[in-house]
Amino acid sequence: MKFHIAVLPGDGIGPEITEAAVNVLQAVGKKYGHTFDLYHGHIGGAAIDATGMPLPPDVEKISKKSDAVLMGAVGDPRFDAPGTKVHPEDGILALRRALGLFANLRPVKALPMLVNATNLKPEVIDGVDFIFVRELTGGLYFGRPKKRWQTPKGWRAVDTMIYSEGEIERIVRVSFELARGRKKKLISVDKANVLECSRLWRQVATDLSRSYPDVELEHMLVDACSMRLIQNPKHFDVVVSENTFGDILTDEASMLAGSMGMLPSASLAGVPQEGVRTLGLYEPIHGSAPRRAGQNLANPIATILSMAMMLRYSCGLAKEAQAVEKTVIDVLNEGYRTYDIMDEGKKQVGTREMGELIVGKL
Ligand code: IPM
Ligand code: MG
Repeated sequence: MKFHIAVLPGDGIGPEITEAAVNVLQAVGKKYGHTFDLYHGHIGGAAIDATGMPLPPDVEKISKKSDAVLMGAVGDPRFDAPGTKVHPEDGILALRRALGLFANLRPVKALPMLVNATNLKPEVIDGVDFIFVRELTGGLYFGRPKKRWQTPKGWRAVDTMIYSEGEIERIVRVSFELARGRKKKLISVDKANVLECSRLWRQVATDLSRSYPDVELEHMLVDACSMRLIQNPKHFDVVVSENTFGDILTDEASMLAGSMGMLPSASLAGVPQEGVRTLGLYEPIHGSAPRRAGQNLANPIATILSMAMMLRYSCGLAKEAQAVEKTVIDVLNEGYRTYDIMDEGKKQVGTREMGELIVGKL
């Protein structure tokens, strides 16, 4: 089969991790007889440098027409200065929104050979395997007004958390569907003791649960959730939350897997179905790690596993996706590690070498 993939490396370590993932993708093509036609485009700080815009219109257009988008990371301290009008992050936010990718799937797995890479006791994280569903196109990230202004008493700023019933319903539905295919346990995270958006969220989730009598729904407050993730992560199977809570909690959850460099993500416009091809954007959950950039240090596994999710959801290639995931595990079992998951007696390799090891083993 033939696929069109938009490849957007972005900033910092983005180009290095994306190159490693693309090499693995091409190896999949060779082995299984598929053609992946790649379109390389700029996003984030790289796009601001090239065009003045974090998401150039042609990049958006080509992403829309592709079978999938594979992204590295965005973010560059050069654009952090106060008063800066355009930010690299605006590029990815605009692309998520333009493609209607409201469902962000972030699987969290504690792999047995990486237990020492975490700070937690082996018995706490052993067997952790859940999926975090983050609402991706609403809430504080996009709500208006969103601005900063001067007053006689100094500067003020506002961000707006806003959700409609429909936005909540569709993301909770995705989560119920996923829960149905797993342990039939869904945890919905909110702050319903304080926030009006969360009260609506809880009500919509409860109403929808009537259509899923086979799935057990548990409501959990976000502060309690952040504690439970460390205290008893095995309690989680499918978790759903609004945008900002999901951003924060998944960075925390990545520590269960040993490193941010291990967590992939898929951003979709509906319920994921294996074998049914749907446009999606695939990116690691981590950022552009500017201090690690250009040093052949970064862990490319989160991006490679994101690419595997792309094979599964946007290319309908479940067998190939599984082969990539298994190969990653094999290479880790052989003792190869990037710096972020390095452990005594293991062999430390760089971004490129980790990619090559996975290509070689595939
Ligand atoms: C993520 C990142 C992004 C987000 C940033 C880079 C805008 O932190 O994908 O989790 O906040 O969504
Ligand atoms: Mg984040």
